[in-house]
Amino acid sequence: RTLRIGLIPGDGIGKEVIPAGRKILEALPASLKLKFEFVDLKAGFEAFEQTGAALPEKTVEILKNECDGALFGAVSSPSKAVKGYSSPIVALRKRLDLYANVRPVKSVMTAKNPIDMVIVRENTEDVYVKEEKTYDTPEGKVAEAIKRISEKASFRIATMAGEIALRRQKIRDSGVPSIHKSPMVTITHKSNVLSQTDGLFRSTAREALAAHKFASSVGVEEQIVDSMVYKLFRQPETYDVIVAPNFYGDILSDGAAALVGSLGLVPSANVGEGFAIGEPCHGSAPDIMGQDIANPIATLRSVALMLEFLDEEVAAAKIYSAVDANLEEGRLLSPDLGGTASTTQVVEDILRRL
Ligand code: NAI
Ligand code: MG
Repeated sequence: RTLRIGLIPGDGIGKEVIPAGRKILEALPASLKLKFEFVDLKAGFEAFEQTGAALPEKTVEILKNECDGALFGAVSSPSKAVKGYSSPIVALRKRLDLYANVRPVKSVMTAKNPIDMVIVRENTEDVYVKEEKTYDTPEGKVAEAIKRISEKASFRIATMAGEIALRRQKIRDSGVPSIHKSPMVTITHKSNVLSQTDGLFRSTAREALAAHKFASSVGVEEQIVDSMVYKLFRQPETYDVIVAPNFYGDILSDGAAALVGSLGLVPSANVGEGFAIGEPCHGSAPDIMGQDIANPIATLRSVALMLEFLDEEVAAAKIYSAVDANLEEGRLLSPDLGGTASTTQVVEDILRRL
């Protein structure tokens, strides 16, 4: 099988970590019978300054018509609003209908409190439909926002969470160490207060996860979002797969990323029907760019995550194992993890383990 992958380095350290992502794909063992073709694509602030578009139309067209998946580095946002500039990744999610944002957060299994969870965030609706208004009343201004939850979006995101739970079990069974013994999905909501909107999310997610393919093997539980934050801090090891509406998912996924010590470790994927973009969680990190010290692991894990969604679990598991082995040995770590290794050295070590 040949997969065609769009490479969008973007700005800052995106230009240093995306080449590492390409290298690891090229280094996958020949026995997997996987080949890759790469297409270099532009997006970001530099692209905006050069072409007048943060997300050139050509990038969208090539991704849509020619690619099986993509890797997105990071983009810089100007500190003051610049006319005509808006975030290319937000636009890409819309244009390609990437309705899920998937963020695994994993520590080394030898840590004092090991964690291994993934947050599956609905990415098209909820309060982020941005239907807001402000009006005057005798007591002063009032502002309102629409919180939209649909059966369709809730069903597909919960189904994806169930599928991810099953796939994570497969990856564990193939020898990638974890603290979890069996798949579990936690539905997050606040339906005790928002009985219509979050109530619909909750009941629809329950229904989706009762499907035959999950029923016998995926455990399902619920957690009210505020108590979830408490448990996330106190007992993060309890969670395997968390599924949440857009707003709670946004907050939970940034919070969870803080549990593992460095943004340089946390991957994500933007996923739609048959397409996935792997994207490290961090930004363009202008403070460390050009020094060959950015941690490439968030990107390497994003590569593996993209492969999972392209149904290449075996290849993904190989990358996860090589990364985990590097971290567990702890000899070649980048400065954000207290080490002295360069980006190049970390990548070389992981490629050697692969
Ligand atoms: P940032 O994630 O770029 O950096 C925050 C801190 O973490 C910095 O000290 C940085 O050196 C460190 N860091 C980040 N990634 C690292 C890595 N791989 N290895 C080692 N250390 C790493 O966030 P910040 O500084 O708030 O934003 C910088 C720029 O990035 C801004 O223009 C912002 O708009 C943009 N940004 C873009 C995102 C995206 O493309 N999805 C997400 C977040 C920020
Ligand atoms: Mg966020």
